[in-house]
Amino acid sequence: MPHEFVPGLEGVPIAESAISFVDGLKGVLEYRGIRIENLAEHSTYEETAHLLLKGDLPDQAALGSLIHELANHRRLESQIIDLLKCLPEYGHPMDALQAAIAALGMFHPARDVTKDAENHLSCIRLIAKLPSIVSAFERFRNGAEILSPREDLGHTANFLYTLTGVEPNHVSVKALDVCLILHADHTMNASTFSGRVTGSTLADPYTVVSSAVGTLSGPLHGGANEQVLDMLREIGSVQNAETYIENKMANKDRIMGFGHRVYKTKDPRAIILRRLADEMTEEHGSTELYEIALRVDEIVTERLGEKGIFANVDFYSGIVYDALGIRSDAFTPIFAMGRVAGWLAHWLEQLIDNRIFRPTQIYAGEHDIPYRPAEQRGGKSS
Ligand code: SDX
Repeated sequence: MPHEFVPGLEGVPIAESAISFVDGLKGVLEYRGIRIENLAEHSTYEETAHLLLKGDLPDQAALGSLIHELANHRRLESQIIDLLKCLPEYGHPMDALQAAIAALGMFHPARDVTKDAENHLSCIRLIAKLPSIVSAFERFRNGAEILSPREDLGHTANFLYTLTGVEPNHVSVKALDVCLILHADHTMNASTFSGRVTGSTLADPYTVVSSAVGTLSGPLHGGANEQVLDMLREIGSVQNAETYIENKMANKDRIMGFGHRVYKTKDPRAIILRRLADEMTEEHGSTELYEIALRVDEIVTERLGEKGIFANVDFYSGIVYDALGIRSDAFTPIFAMGRVAGWLAHWLEQLIDNRIFRPTQIYAGEHDIPYRPAEQRGGKSS
């Protein structure tokens, strides 16, 4: 007997997973049982990636080995750099990222997903190279020279260096590292589900991540962080915020950066990101955009809070990235740089007891329609 049709699979479990946990009513997020607040304060993205992939935080030897592996695999193949340079500079960086990841899999064929060692190496390559792809395309489309990665810098510091050409200070590295940790996993979100579906066909990990990147790019998912900055710029001043939000609500438009399928209270990541945005504005000075963001948060919380609609992870992340000098259409690629560890953890978990995803449907069409030659057609179907 088929199950009832559930739009968007809302509330439908599609896997058993031990990777992350969300309590949407209490605003709790844990990675492998560790609260996100603790990881944001004490961990690093390298440690968090190990936690997600291997199930526990690394000891010092394992951490050192992971840092070394990631540093050794950052460099992009010259052909990948050439490919990026063939793409239109006006193209969206998420499309460049998706194209480069799919191409990367051609240089490191990993189509036999039964080999643990190969699978581990693919995870290292993808986690290490996504930042290199993002910074290479950013430099190229801004007319700057593409920089080689530095093996003496940590994962996040190296990304900021290859993006800006300047060795970043500790405040900037810590801020972005926290963002990558906060974005690293989030149970069965759309892009993770997309990656699991692709992985369930035994496609290779580059294809899995390429699928997930495509799904993340949509404005209802990871693409929202870029839309938030566009919205704040469109509002233009703190004084305009109330009228703008009221118009959005009158038109039943979605307000970008707010609402969530699971959280019916404040997204714990938004709370941490707002604190981070506060720190960044103390460091760099407050901006009109941040003041507008605070006012929008206040207004939307007042008007939609009782419907369980609050700021989500995408609302404040852009303020932090903007303070780091990152262009708003590069925000979602940075979301992908964080989430890649979670996508790969879910891919590996899917393979443990894999069964290809093949749901069903409720047929809503007609039956037994006769075939009519072209000269006899016309009327309603043309
Ligand atoms: C991410 O799933 C994840 O975990 C995702 C993510 C992750 O880490 O992977 O957390 C990252 O994608 C965060 C979400 C980023 N997207 C946005 O900020 C886009 C704006 N948000 C909405 O589009 C919406 O809130 C969703 C898509 C996030 C969730 O949508 P749902 O669960 O399908 O909710 P819905 O569209 O059915 O809305 C339910 C009600 C509606 O009102 P009614 O028609 O019942 O009167 O809530 C309203 C909606 O109008 N609503 C909003 C709103 N979100 C929901 N109203 C105004 N603005 C919004 N943002």
